[in-house]
Amino acid sequence: MSFLPIVINISNRFVFFLCLLVILFHSPCSTMMMPGNLYDVNPCVTCKTISDKFVEGYRKTAKSNFGGGNTDWEEKKLKGYAKSETRLIEIMEDACSKSESQCSTFLEKYEDQIEEWYQTTSPELIDNFYQWLCLDTAKVCCPEGTFGKNCRQCHYGDNKRVCSGNGNCDGDGTRSGNGRCICDTKYSGTNCSNCQNGYTKSIDENNQVICSDVDECRSNLFISPCIFYKCNNTDGGYECYGEPFFRQLPKMSTLAVLLLTCSILMYKEMYGLASLACIMTSIVLILFAKNIL
Ligand SMILES: *[C@@H]1O[C@H](CO)[C@@H](O)[C@H](O)[C@H]1NC(C)=O
Ligand SMILES: *[C@@H]1O[C@H](CO)[C@@H](O)[C@H](O)[C@H]1NC(C)=O
Repeated sequence: MSFLPIVINISNRFVFFLCLLVILFHSPCSTMMMPGNLYDVNPCVTCKTISDKFVEGYRKTAKSNFGGGNTDWEEKKLKGYAKSETRLIEIMEDACSKSESQCSTFLEKYEDQIEEWYQTTSPELIDNFYQWLCLDTAKVCCPEGTFGKNCRQCHYGDNKRVCSGNGNCDGDGTRSGNGRCICDTKYSGTNCSNCQNGYTKSIDENNQVICSDVDECRSNLFISPCIFYKCNNTDGGYECYGEPFFRQLPKMSTLAVLLLTCSILMYKEMYGLASLACIMTSIVLILFAKNIL
């Protein structure tokens, strides 16, 4: 009778242990802890990398291994090599760097199809390899200017460019993303054809929207937006700086009086006093200019 609870207890512990194992190895945390196992790399990016490496290897091996001569024997051997297993292995070996498990997994999955492509397709079509592998076969990428599961079209501008050429479409060329335009600074709107505040819109001969900075300091004919202060135009705005105009008045009048005194004394030919007044004027002027007074 007392035997049964123990059995249950043991099996409970076993189940608990099993659960722990499952949690450890299948939680998102465990993937984050394992280096080289980053599942958040976009499969399209992985595919593009493989495709680029494959094309590069394909071109490289086309030239290497046989130098110069074109005797019949060499030509035959060259033909043999062109579709050989040796060459394919050589190309595939460099397609993934060793640490990238996602890359290797991807490559393994499409290995047979790649080999078939390699055996049956003529060498000129290497330029279409990306299209064949990533778009048509693995279906992990979308054509340029489209995004998401069903390769829906990104927002185009009136100039027929993605996001009017003033931003990026989220997920462009991949099977993910939401297709929204992420506009460059200065630009806004669903297709980046509008300007943010502080910029004026113009359209050039190629129908390209251009947003340029408004010079707020000059945009109003009579009054600067800073009124009594000095105005500095900045990218997308303006800033006011310096002393307001009326604060400068006492300084101006002091200078004027000194200058007048110096001139009158000169006029009266009282050169000793005049030079004193003129020197004082210069000193005060320098002190004002250097913001010491
Ligand atoms: C781009 O967006 C503007 C408004 O933000 C709209 O008037 C225009 O028709 C759009 N262009 C295209 C090609 O959808
Ligand atoms: C005016 O703004 C520019 C930046 O747009 C800045 O480099 C410059 O130092 C500013 N000048 C003054 C006097 O604040």
